[in-house]
Amino acid sequence: MEADDPVEPPAAFRDRANVATDVRERFATAWPEAWDAAGDLLDWFEPYDAVLDWDGEGPPFRWFAGGRLNASHECLDRHLAERKNRLALRWEGRLGETRAYTYLDLHREVNAFAAALRELGVEADDVVTLYMPVVPELVVAMLACARLGAPHNVVFAGFSADALTTRMERADSAFLVTCDGYYRRGDAMNQKRRADRARMALDYDLRATVVVERLGGARLGPDQHDYDALVERHAGATVDPVPRDAGDTLFQMYTSGTTGTPKSVAHTTGGYLAHVAWTSRAVLDVKPEDTYWCTADIGWITGHSYVVYGPLALGTTTVLYEGTPDHPERDRVWEIVERNAVDTFYTAPTAIRSFVKWGEQHPEAHDLSSLRLLGTVGEPIDPSAWRWYHEHIGGGECPVVDTWWQTETGAILVSTLPGVDAMKPGSAGPPLPGIDAAVLRPDGSECDPGETGLLAIRSPWPGMPRELAHATDWGRAAAGEEWCYLAGDEAVADEDGYITVLGRADDVINVSGRRVGTAEVESAVVAVEGVAEAAVIGVDHPTRGTAVHAYVSPEVDRAADDSLRESVLAAVEAAIGPLASPEQVVFTPELPKTRSGKIMRRLLEAVANGEEYGDTSALRNPEVVGELEVRREGVSDE
Ligand code: WT7
Repeated sequence: MEADDPVEPPAAFRDRANVATDVRERFATAWPEAWDAAGDLLDWFEPYDAVLDWDGEGPPFRWFAGGRLNASHECLDRHLAERKNRLALRWEGRLGETRAYTYLDLHREVNAFAAALRELGVEADDVVTLYMPVVPELVVAMLACARLGAPHNVVFAGFSADALTTRMERADSAFLVTCDGYYRRGDAMNQKRRADRARMALDYDLRATVVVERLGGARLGPDQHDYDALVERHAGATVDPVPRDAGDTLFQMYTSGTTGTPKSVAHTTGGYLAHVAWTSRAVLDVKPEDTYWCTADIGWITGHSYVVYGPLALGTTTVLYEGTPDHPERDRVWEIVERNAVDTFYTAPTAIRSFVKWGEQHPEAHDLSSLRLLGTVGEPIDPSAWRWYHEHIGGGECPVVDTWWQTETGAILVSTLPGVDAMKPGSAGPPLPGIDAAVLRPDGSECDPGETGLLAIRSPWPGMPRELAHATDWGRAAAGEEWCYLAGDEAVADEDGYITVLGRADDVINVSGRRVGTAEVESAVVAVEGVAEAAVIGVDHPTRGTAVHAYVSPEVDRAADDSLRESVLAAVEAAIGPLASPEQVVFTPELPKTRSGKIMRRLLEAVANGEEYGDTSALRNPEVVGELEVRREGVSDE
C-alpha cells in the first residue's frame, strides 16, 4: 500500500486546534518532563514527585511516581463546579431509544452504584467483571469500580460463556455485572443465560452478580441483584473516591496474543489516564463544549480509552452507540451525527469500507456540517477509503487522523496532530511527540526509509501497561540489547518519518479491527471430535480487512462433511464467540509441513490469498499444496 500525496490541514481547523506546532519541539528538548503536559490535564489528590522514575535503562518504569488520584473523580467530581448540567453521555440504543446523562446525573448514579458494590463486598483491588453491551450502566459500573479502587475487567458482550469463564478465572474475579439480554440487529440475545453458564463453570463461587434489565423479566437467583433496585436503594449515597497510586491498576482486559490463551493487559490509573486525556486533546482535538462520537464497543480498548476515559476526563459529551451501522437503515450513523451535531467522529476502516460500498447517497441525505475532525483506528486504511471518508463525510474540510495504537499501548502512539501535520492518506503518520516509535530490523537496528521492518517503541510511554512497566521479558527486541517493546506489526517509514503500518507480523488476525489469535481458534478446532489437525490463517477480505479461514484435516475414519464443518464452527463459537468464526472451513487430508513437522501457515496464507508461494521442495509433503489450491474457494464479500 502506497501513501498518497500529502494533504495539509485546513487553516480554519489549525487556528482553533488544541495543540500547536511548538509541542514537538518541547517534547524533543525535554523528555520525559514534557509529559507534564499530560499530567497537568489531571487533578491530583497528591502531586507526583517525578514525571518518570526509572534508571535510564530497563524496567521498572514509574510514570507520575508519588502521585495519587482517582479516575472517577477525574471523570466526574472535578467537572461538577463548571459543568454539572452539561451532558456527559448521550446514548443511542439499538431500538432507536435515546438517553442522556448530565455530569451531575452520572455522578449521582455512579455514587449510588459504588455504594451498592461496596455493600456487596467489593473493596479496593477486587476485580469486578463487566459483561454488557454498550449501555450507560456499563459506563456507570466502570466509574463505580474506579471510585472504589476496584479494577474492572470488561469482557466484550459478544464473547461466549467459555470465554467469559476463562477471563474471570484468570483475573480471579468474584464479582460480575451483566445484563439480562440485548438486541442484536432486531433480535433479542439472552446474555444472562451465557453469564449463568459461565458462573457454573467457574472453579470458585461468585460473591455477587448484578443484572441490568434490558429486556425485562429475567429471574434472579440467590446472590443475584437487580441493578435498578440497587441504585434506587442507594440513591443519594456518596462514596468518597479512593485515592490510588499513579501506578495502581485502573482496569485490566484480555486480548488475543500468539498463544492459545488470552493475554492479560493491566492499565494504570495515572499514566494511562494522563495519556488518554492528552491524546484525546491533542489528536482527537476534544473540547469541553463538543459532542464527540467514537463508534467502538466499550468491550475493547478503543471504547475504554476513547469512548469513556478520554472524553469524560476532558469533560466533553461522549456519544454511546449500541447498534450496528446498517440497522435499521444504512444511514443510521449519519442520522445520529446530524441529530446530535457531532463534532468529532472516530471509527474503524472496516466501517468506512462498508460506507464506501453502500454509497455516498446515505451521508448525502444528512447535514454533516457539524463535523470538524474525523478519525480512524484499528487497521490500515487504504488511500482510496481515506479519500472517500475525507471527501464524503468530512466535506474535504475535516482533517482525518489515522491513529495507530493497541490494547497494550493503552492510548494513541502514532498519528498526525490534526492542526499541525500534513496528512498522507494511507500512512498513520509520525510518532506522536514524546513517543520513540521506529521500524527495526530483526537485529534491532533501524530500517532505512522504504525498508519494511518491525514496529517498535524504544522508550517508555505513560499509557504503557503494568506488565511492560514492571517485567523485563515482555517486549525486548529480538536481538537488540536495548530495552524496547515490539508491537507485533510490520511497518515501513518514509523519508519524513511517517509510518505506514502494513499489518500483523505475528499469528494474530485483525478481523474488522478486532484481534483474533490463530492459536486460540486452533485449540478450539482441534478439540472437535474427528479433527486430527488444524491451521487457522488470515485471508484478505474486501470489507473486514482479514477473514478467518480454518484448514482442517479430519481423522482417517472421519468423513469431511457438513456435520464436521458445523461442529468446527460451533466449537469456535462456544470457545470464543461468533467474532472468531471461520468464514471458510477447508478440509484437507494433510496440512503442508516442514520436514521437522511444523505446519507452514505462511504457505497456507499465500495460497489462500492467491500470492506467490515459491519453492515447496523443502516441504515434507509438497503435493498437498496443489491440492489446496483446488480446494480454495474465492473470498466472498459480506
Ligand atoms: C492492532 C492492535 C487500539 C486500536 C484498536 C485495536 C492494528 C491499530 C492501526 C492503524 C494500521 C492498526 C495493528 C495493531 N492497528 N490501529 N491506525 N493502522 N493498523 O486494538 O485489538 O489491540 O489491535 O491493530 O495491527 O497491532 P488491538
